[in-house]
Amino acid sequence: MFQNSCRLSFVTFLCLLFLCRFVYSQLDYKFYDYTCPNLTTIVRSGVWSAIANDTRMAASLLRLHFHDCIVNGCEASVLLDDTSTFKGEKNAFPNRNSARGFEVIDTIKANVEKTCPSIVSCSDILNLAVRDAVFLAGGPYWSVPLGRRDGLTASETAANRDIPSPFEPFENITAKFASKGLGIKDVVVLSGAHTIGFAQCFTFKQRLFNFNGSGNPDPTLSVSLRNNLQNICPNIDDSDTNLAPLDPVSTSKFDNIYYKNLLNNSGLLQSDQALMGDNRTAAMVYYYSRFPLLFSKDFGISMVKLSSVGVLTGQDGQIRKNCRVVN
Ligand code: HEM
Ligand SMILES: *[C@@H]1O[C@H](CO)[C@@H](O)[C@H](O)[C@H]1NC(C)=O
Ligand SMILES: *[C@@H]1O[C@H](CO)[C@@H](O)[C@H](O)[C@H]1NC(C)=O
Ligand SMILES: *[C@@H]1O[C@H](CO)[C@@H](O)[C@H](O)[C@H]1NC(C)=O
Ligand SMILES: *[C@@H]1O[C@H](CO)[C@@H](O)[C@H](O)[C@H]1NC(C)=O
Ligand SMILES: *[C@@H]1O[C@H](CO)[C@@H](O)[C@H](O)[C@H]1NC(C)=O
Ligand SMILES: *[C@@H]1O[C@H](CO)[C@@H](O)[C@H](O)[C@H]1NC(C)=O
Repeated sequence: MFQNSCRLSFVTFLCLLFLCRFVYSQLDYKFYDYTCPNLTTIVRSGVWSAIANDTRMAASLLRLHFHDCIVNGCEASVLLDDTSTFKGEKNAFPNRNSARGFEVIDTIKANVEKTCPSIVSCSDILNLAVRDAVFLAGGPYWSVPLGRRDGLTASETAANRDIPSPFEPFENITAKFASKGLGIKDVVVLSGAHTIGFAQCFTFKQRLFNFNGSGNPDPTLSVSLRNNLQNICPNIDDSDTNLAPLDPVSTSKFDNIYYKNLLNNSGLLQSDQALMGDNRTAAMVYYYSRFPLLFSKDFGISMVKLSSVGVLTGQDGQIRKNCRVVN
């Protein structure tokens, strides 16, 4: 059947097939269709209850997922409690007293275990939960390829190293994304997650009073927003854990107003407003501020990309019974 002239292209085809499997890591949209047909229903109802009780939970789940994937891949390492053999990620600087949503995932996992014991990974549950959380907050809906397995360890050191800080230069942030295969467009699109949720005062307070040791406020922060923020975050240590909305215009609605805010110097974090300091990313900010549907579409695409970073599949890792501990 295969003539010599076809051989080369056949070999190329096999190589491509292999590469595709490698790139997409064998994730599959129908992975649990036969083994846990009610999975999506169980996850959706768990997320719905959690958000009905606490609107902010949509944002907290979204951030939890980012912090999982950016540190050694999407293998639910962020969910692991500290043990005698490793210090986990929950107490790393960016997560301690900050990451939320662990109980929501525990509750959903317990319900999934009742119906489909030892079938569904914590990593896939977190992925589905985040998709539903964004949708319930008014954002886009996307299909989630499934079949991830859970990691066997977690690393406080890696979390401190890999999670971007709001204080570091923009180039350092893009380098952290790039090291996970995420480009500059993904940085702009995924930063749009800051259209929902809150930040503690200490994450932006230096912009209000003494920016970068200059003794003056950050000149790239709108004066009216600064005045409002100074009320929430007075210049005393006591205010460090007070909360300010990342998008004061539509705090719990997943929309594109985050980008409109950046256009008038109303980004909350220094790292948000920094998207206007580079002409490539500023052009994208302008574009997403104009075209909400294109932002929605690109957000789904970048989330699927983020969700495939460093995944474990096949025989690697395990299906945890309890998301907090390795079996
Ligand atoms: C680009 C680099 C990023 C930096 C420097 C950054 C930094 C931060 C900081 C400092 C906070 C406030 C945390 C606190 O005060 O406790 C925050 C909150 C948040 N971040 Fe990011 N972030 C980044 C990217 C992302 C990405 C890619 C996502 C998701 C796709 C995301 C989702 C969120 C959400 C939803 C919140 C609010 C969480 C809540 O209210 O519980 N962030 N981020
Ligand atoms: C799956 O969900 C349907 C309705 O959503 C329900 O009737 C059925 O009992 C569920 N199956 C299991 C095994 O929980
Ligand atoms: C509801 O949300 C509050 C925080 O706003 C939390 O303390 C409480 O545990 C949540 N209750 C349930 C049942 O999830
Ligand atoms: C930014 O990255 C450079 C190069 O890796 C590093 O030397 C520098 O300390 C980083 N800056 C900050 C503020 O983290
Ligand atoms: C902060 O100050 C240092 C030294 O004065 C300067 O090199 C750096 O560019 C400043 N950073 C920002 C974000 O303005
Ligand atoms: C910035 O833009 C947003 C969204 O268009 C608007 O609601 C807000 O009032 C503006 N803020 C300033 C300081 O101009
Ligand atoms: C950004 O600025 C550089 C030089 O300052 C210029 O070469 C480049 O074309 C600009 N890019 C965009 C997208 O405007």
